[in-house]
Amino acid sequence: MSQAPLLEVRDLHTYLFPRRGVIRAVDGVSFTLHRGETLGLVGESGCGKTMTALSLLRLVPQPVARIVKGEIWLEGEDLLQKSEREMRRIRGRKIAMILQDPQTSLNPVLTVGTQLIEALALQGREASSRLVARAVELLQRVRVADAARRLRHYPHQLSGGMKQRVVGAIAMAGNPQVLIADEPTTALDVTIQLQYLNLLKELQAQTAMALLFITHDFGVVAHTCDRVAVMYAGRIVESGPVRAVFNRPAHPYTQALIAAVPSLDEPVERLDTIEGQPPAPEAFPAGCRFHPRCPYAEPRCHQDYPPTLPVADGHTAACWRLAAP
Ligand SMILES: Nc1ncnc2c1ncn2[C@@H]1O[C@H](COP(=O)(O)OP(=O)(O)OP(=O)(O)O)[C@@H](O)[C@H]1O
Ligand SMILES: [Mg+2]
Repeated sequence: MSQAPLLEVRDLHTYLFPRRGVIRAVDGVSFTLHRGETLGLVGESGCGKTMTALSLLRLVPQPVARIVKGEIWLEGEDLLQKSEREMRRIRGRKIAMILQDPQTSLNPVLTVGTQLIEALALQGREASSRLVARAVELLQRVRVADAARRLRHYPHQLSGGMKQRVVGAIAMAGNPQVLIADEPTTALDVTIQLQYLNLLKELQAQTAMALLFITHDFGVVAHTCDRVAVMYAGRIVESGPVRAVFNRPAHPYTQALIAAVPSLDEPVERLDTIEGQPPAPEAFPAGCRFHPRCPYAEPRCHQDYPPTLPVADGHTAACWRLAAP
């Protein structure tokens, strides 16, 4: 793509420092996101997806986590150089995130209306006399029926899918340029999940916002994303246009992920068909981090981390099999 990316993450490292040891949750992640594009970030539980997303907002858990290295360029500005005060203006207006668990991202003791109006007021773009009408509009945008009445409801009066829509409406309050949706893994079934994602895609079509969609499920990615970045043990091991990666996965981990999808119409909820466990981020193996599970591992895979190499146009993978022997 010739146009400059809206968001460019370079060599991001976010570590956690518990009392003992270091957890290298995000360990050298780079990717780009263009206007109007949907990028899927896919990988097994614990590989660092949420920590990557929280890093973009500079909302990593305090004090245990720290962004130790990297650059996050949004429209020509490095977010890692911003003050906390500047970041408060960026969150919601430029980058917004729909948290993984819709149950915990709504306040149970406040009505839907109060929470929406709070989000709108925080953006400071709307006259206070317009807030209620705007809140109704936001709910209508995410297809909540009978929106005016819903404003008076508390979260427990809504279904899981509806709660998620409300969380989506709150995220849309600031008209963000980048929306991060961190998929809940258990809260909703896959059909509702796909409906919700399609709704986000409709909103995207109206606003040209970029969508970063985080999931375990390669099937969902194949249905809805333009490009995909596959994450394993704190790093991106393969990325490219969805079709290219799906049709010709180059990294053995991606191949295993895709093999775990029974068919495109039947997304999986868990990736437990891959042999073995991902390594613990406090003790990554030397060399390629996938080598203990890789059927093709050679001696050099045990020693050095593979470089990111081209597979095809816009499609890269970090695997020694792509390098000259
Ligand atoms: N507050 C924390 N304290 C200690 N370790 C943490 C904390 N939050 C995350 N981690 C660790 O950091 C690593 C990356 O976590 P992260 O939440 O980014 O994974 P994920 O890819 O989003 O997984 P999932 O698909 O289960 O949501 C994991 O090993 C996790 O155990
Ligand atoms: Mg997560």
